[in-house]
Amino acid sequence: MCGIVGYTGFKEANTILIDGLKKLEYRGYDSAGIALQLEGKLKITKAAGSVADLESKMDEGDSEVKVGIGHTRWATHGRPTDENAHPHYSCCEKFAVIHNGIIENHQALRQWLKEETGHEFRSETDTEVLAHLVEEYYKDDLLEAVRNAVARVEGSYAMVVISSHEPERLVCARQDSPLIVGLGEDENFVASDIPALLAHTRKTKILEDGEFASITPEQVEIFDAEGKSIDKEVFEITWDIESAEKGGYEHFMLKEIMEQPAVAKETMRQRIDPANGRVKLDEINLTDEEIQTLDNIYIVACGTAYHAGLLGKAVLEDLAGIPVEVDVASEFRYRRPIFKENQLVIVISQSGETADTLAALRMARQKGVKVLAITNVVGSSVSREADEVLYTWAGPEIAVASTKAYLTQLVALYLVAIYFGELRGYLASEKADELVKGLKELPGQLEQVLSEESLAKLHKYCEHLSKWDNAFFVGRNLDYPVAREGALKLKEISYIHAEAYAAGELKHGPLALIVDGVPVVALITQKAVYDKTLSNIQEVNARGGAVFAITMEGNDDVAEQVESVFYLPPVNDVLAPVLAAVPTQLIAYYTALARGSSVDKPRNLAKSVTVE
Ligand code: F6R
Repeated sequence: MCGIVGYTGFKEANTILIDGLKKLEYRGYDSAGIALQLEGKLKITKAAGSVADLESKMDEGDSEVKVGIGHTRWATHGRPTDENAHPHYSCCEKFAVIHNGIIENHQALRQWLKEETGHEFRSETDTEVLAHLVEEYYKDDLLEAVRNAVARVEGSYAMVVISSHEPERLVCARQDSPLIVGLGEDENFVASDIPALLAHTRKTKILEDGEFASITPEQVEIFDAEGKSIDKEVFEITWDIESAEKGGYEHFMLKEIMEQPAVAKETMRQRIDPANGRVKLDEINLTDEEIQTLDNIYIVACGTAYHAGLLGKAVLEDLAGIPVEVDVASEFRYRRPIFKENQLVIVISQSGETADTLAALRMARQKGVKVLAITNVVGSSVSREADEVLYTWAGPEIAVASTKAYLTQLVALYLVAIYFGELRGYLASEKADELVKGLKELPGQLEQVLSEESLAKLHKYCEHLSKWDNAFFVGRNLDYPVAREGALKLKEISYIHAEAYAAGELKHGPLALIVDGVPVVALITQKAVYDKTLSNIQEVNARGGAVFAITMEGNDDVAEQVESVFYLPPVNDVLAPVLAAVPTQLIAYYTALARGSSVDKPRNLAKSVTVE
């Protein structure tokens, strides 16, 4: 995830900025850069790679400087290169900008800036439009210029701008992306994250959406969207560096689970046309005809991404009417899959570097089959080698057990299924409207699922679960892939052997293992199979199994059957897996905690599996 640091004061800015960027390295990034106020000019140094690479490019004279901004970039628009790294100059090089977030209307702004006002661009990024806009609107006040620039922008941003016209000043703006001002004595700071500030100050002012800040060594002024000055309270940080890195959470995994409402929103951003509510996947270049004539899709992935693929199969078949096969990449690559004439392969990979997934992608392409990649990492091998790429905007995932990346994979698959379904005339527009409305409500519903009140319900059951070495996850229909992923999560981080079954399969064998107290997590969200799943729960109950049910609000008869119930807010059945996945992640998390396991780095596992 991108990181921001800014400094204005009396000390060596370059050292403060480099140290600040190093404190943000844990968040993941692929390039870094710094802009310094040097003898009446702005000097930008950038490097693809690490902060250490950037440091090695700095000159000795840079240490004289007292004002500057620094950035670590996690590529979104444009590959991770020197040119695309932030800060970005405006044409006259008197303005430099760093930015976290996504400028949704960057293409229209770029065109306007080029054609109407003659600006020339140096990078492929969305951010660069901000630098040119600020230059365009600058008269004699940087804050005014930033306000006018931001008024043209749609999207999310935490941005900091410096100008050689006003050498001591940092001007900042925030919308949907965090920005924190750090207060010092004759010096002040700004950062996207607390770890970058902790070595210097614990006194902060936290910007809210729509707010601006003007920062000099002596003064911090904050303004609301209307330009009215705001008297903001000072927020004293009490966290140590380790908890600051985790946003105050005990583990990265919990932080990432909590980020899910935001990343779900981010993954939908720009992909639903606000004018007509239609899904639009502009980044996919498959022609309408190619999509309309598809005979078959193979979804290929590993682990959690494979489980996302299982749900992808169900929704693509249901909404787009395309037969879909799903395979784990390590099997697919050594099989001789039968490709249809109009075939598409979808690979799913958080890292974009998984060796088996990459091999499967290459195999399909060698056979002349088009590959669409759903991945989280811009510039990854998968993204470079696939014909088409749809990015999940989950940001870097640090915990080994995937949570937020998985959730964004589900969202991406819904978008593909709705888009394909409408184009193929298979999905009625009323049904598509209903699903899009449902998708847009998901971030708010995820917040509800993650409320403290909901979380409290999980603890007691996890205490029970933590004492067992075996557990089951069951569900039917769309609940089944969620059960598969829930079981994997529990295995990975709590080391409890968990198995997922299609609930109807219980009586074909595994019911023999259900005795007093055996933990069974039952997903029961699908109306079409509700009564059937309820009967399966009764079968478990009758044998003394301890059932934890995950169901929709209003399904009160479930509560009569089981030990504990977790209610999800009302949601279209098709979209229920997005909400239902969350309690299963939390069950794994709290159970692992109760067992004292290493949550973020489970034994024997690596985040990215780049070998076979
Ligand atoms: C489990 C997990 C793994 C990955 C798998 C594929 O929590 O994270 O099962 O899903 O190794 O990784 P990517 O998605 O990077 O290809």
